[in-house]
Amino acid sequence: MKGLILAGGKGTRLRPITFSMAKQLVPVANKPVVEYGLEAMAAAGIREFGVITGDTGPEVEAALGDGSRWGVSITYIPQDAPRGLAHAVQTALPFLGESDFLMYLGDNLIKSSLQRLVDEFQAHRPAATILLTPVSNPSDFGVAEMEDGRVTRLEEKPAEPRSNLALVGVYLFDRRVHEVIQRLKPSRRGEYEITDAIQGLIDEGHTVRSHIVDGWWKDTGTVEAMLEANRLILEDLVGRLDGEVDERSSLHGRVVLGAGSRVLNSVVRGPVVIGAGCHIEDSYVGPFTAIDDGSRVVRTELEYSIVMRDCVLEGLPHRLEGSLLGRGVSATASTARPRTLQLVMGDNSSAVIP
Ligand code: DAU
Repeated sequence: MKGLILAGGKGTRLRPITFSMAKQLVPVANKPVVEYGLEAMAAAGIREFGVITGDTGPEVEAALGDGSRWGVSITYIPQDAPRGLAHAVQTALPFLGESDFLMYLGDNLIKSSLQRLVDEFQAHRPAATILLTPVSNPSDFGVAEMEDGRVTRLEEKPAEPRSNLALVGVYLFDRRVHEVIQRLKPSRRGEYEITDAIQGLIDEGHTVRSHIVDGWWKDTGTVEAMLEANRLILEDLVGRLDGEVDERSSLHGRVVLGAGSRVLNSVVRGPVVIGAGCHIEDSYVGPFTAIDDGSRVVRTELEYSIVMRDCVLEGLPHRLEGSLLGRGVSATASTARPRTLQLVMGDNSSAVIP
């Protein structure tokens, strides 16, 4: 079985972060979100990967390389424009050939193992296997209708959903899906939908199996979902200290501190991950925070946040919470009067300051 990771697309809902980086590379617990999917697929025995890329292709390639870090091979497949998930599959046809494949949306994170799905797919040989999970906002997803345990109808982002079962971004297919995709028409939103392709398989009488996801699942397409994904990953964090902590500091719970990082006169309450070469001084870092390499946090309190690499946060008068800060962001406050707040923020950034 081959693996197909979709890392093209636009990422408009994660702006301004995605003005300058691929949404699949936004770090969750200091690791690009796409790597979680790749690792889960590699753990399920997949060795040959195709990665669909768009405008941010060079950045995705630089991050994942040739796959040798995971003992797999990666073929990069540029898609001319983000014309839909089914179009991405069509673009990947020369790579996929006649193979079965597991398709993973590069901005999705799921906790369940993929091994059982792969084994079951190979044992039962359906045309497709899909994953479903109940959600409170089904109109934001592909939605499945079930009857007697079988999927009968699928609809992409319906205005009036007929169930609360959302399609999770992990799919298994055999070659039969390509025939359906060839005949597909663009949807109302102008995309070639994989949801419609799966409906086509059902209409033609092919077997489509479904599973309800047993662990958690996140589509990390929004800031809120990204922070929530960060929390969920940090829930399972195993502490490890490779940096330096002075005697005036206290660390509570599970904390990862990278090599060359220093924590001075500060309180860190885990689960927290701090990358390499960071400087934390006179500060409080609270639960569910990820601070990436080379960042500096001085006289600042923060929790439940993602701070990407090379940020500078200094003297902030209020605790930062639920924040997502891009690479190299700087926010500093002066201690002398007038007490000013100095922010360097990208296009369309937002800050709520009391
Ligand atoms: O997250 C699950 C949902 O993913 C499903 O419930 C929906 O049925 C499915 O259509 C998809 O919806 P989204 O609107 O969230 O898909 P999005 O445009 O965010 O694209 C998903 C991933 O695929 C993302 O990493 C970008 C990539 N992509 C997307 C398109 C449209 C491509 O590589 N090429 C594309 O043409």
